[in-house]
Amino acid sequence: MPRLFERGISWDQRMAAVIKILLLEYDRVAGKEILDYLAGDGNTVQWVTDQESCLQWLNQEAFDAFFLSLEQGGEDGLELVEYAKKANSFGLVICLPSHEQTRLALRAMGRGADAYVKRPFDCEELKVILARLLEHRSLLGANFYLRRTQDLIYRFDDIIGSSQSLKKVLAVVRKVAYSNASILIDGETGTGKELIAGAIHYNSSRREKNFIKVNCAALQDTLLESELFGHEKGAFTSADKQRVGRFEQANFGTIFLDEIADMSASTQAKVLRVLQEQEFERVGGTKTIKVDVRLISATNKDLKEEIAQKRFRDDLYYRLNVVNIFIPPLRERTEDILPLAQYFLRRFAGELSKKLTDLTPDAQRALESYHWPGNIRELRNTVERAVLLNEGDRIPREDLFPNWSETQAVAMDTAALPMPDSVQRLVDMEKRLILDALDKSNWVQKEAALYLGISRRVMHYKIQKYGIRNPNWVKNK
Ligand SMILES: Nc1ncnc2c1ncn2[C@@H]1O[C@H](COP(=O)(O)OP(=O)(O)OP(=O)(O)O)[C@@H](O)[C@H]1O
Ligand SMILES: [Mg+2]
Repeated sequence: MPRLFERGISWDQRMAAVIKILLLEYDRVAGKEILDYLAGDGNTVQWVTDQESCLQWLNQEAFDAFFLSLEQGGEDGLELVEYAKKANSFGLVICLPSHEQTRLALRAMGRGADAYVKRPFDCEELKVILARLLEHRSLLGANFYLRRTQDLIYRFDDIIGSSQSLKKVLAVVRKVAYSNASILIDGETGTGKELIAGAIHYNSSRREKNFIKVNCAALQDTLLESELFGHEKGAFTSADKQRVGRFEQANFGTIFLDEIADMSASTQAKVLRVLQEQEFERVGGTKTIKVDVRLISATNKDLKEEIAQKRFRDDLYYRLNVVNIFIPPLRERTEDILPLAQYFLRRFAGELSKKLTDLTPDAQRALESYHWPGNIRELRNTVERAVLLNEGDRIPREDLFPNWSETQAVAMDTAALPMPDSVQRLVDMEKRLILDALDKSNWVQKEAALYLGISRRVMHYKIQKYGIRNPNWVKNK
């Protein structure tokens, strides 16, 4: 007779959620014992004593785990394993064979069972095996989720920009993705180095394997070595367990070493060895570990300068830099600014369920004239904040740049302007700037003064000085 037990609180912290278990046990004494044990921690356990009711329950409900005795069923037990996996591929199947049924249990594993526990067993064993399998299943789930979302993040379609320089970068990426060549990506902060590294991995033959990222600047020397290569138990004071390093996790996949210039000499030597020999030892270990890993690295420092200063090994540099990809700063590819801003606008408006669809012309001009020291990351944050603040259908300049006059003053840095070669030119340039500012502000003097970071009085004075007049007003007259 099927019986349903629900009680108390759950097992341990790892199994915080109550789980649903189906148990097929023909023997009443054993069945009762297992049921009491498993249900004792708050799980829902459905116990059945024959295959027919077992099938009914399998058709009716999805179980987290299905324990089935192989003792009476023989070959039918194998069919049940297969059936359970087909009915609910995410449910765990654990067989309970007799001591002599090892071969049958192995065949059950071949048909999809996740584990078996031979009799006689202590019920505690069931609990331990189940906890392990559940943990493994949740890691697989998390991994699957990450892969799915990472795939989305790193699709070529989501790399926005139509500038010649970005097109060149993408052409190189497509060409080299499939090779195993090491790639060094240079570029200022926020230009998209990590995005490009991800795109390379997800468009390579290694895409089904791990893409592991390590920021070399985030960890001190010894910690970075243990992060990269792992360590053996007792390798240093706090090493109370063995640890698998990132190179091992990236086996058959890709490792992305960010801010590579920040590695110590000893770590540099070890990374060089992995590149040359594809092998290393864990910190405090003697066993040599072989790996097949593709290396992509990135830096926003000038590595040649680091080599000149003897802070970076030149032999490592040449190994890392088989292919070099330089991502230019956003201010050097201004035609990418608006497409990127529109892309972020659509994305964040969608995520936040806002009806925003566009930027005002003024906002567009402001975005294009700003020099973006934080590159695309800064642009993305700027648009995200503006989307968050805005309830209308178009983003105005004020939401993007609340302190526009200061921003403008920075943007007007002298490097962006041609150097005047005579006093007369300087005067011309001032007049041109004032005309520009008036044009941008639709001839509202107060706003034009804000653009230039000067007072209204000074603005008025300059307009008089240069005899500037609103052309529309002149025409209408
Ligand atoms: N061409 C692009 N299209 C769409 N999004 C981009 C593009 N380039 C960069 N981004 C986005 O800009 C942000 C910054 O990019 P990323 O983290 O790759 O920069 P980075 O060069 O690695 O920066 P850092 O040197 O600071 O680590 C990310 O959110 C990324 O998705
Ligand atoms: Mg980065």
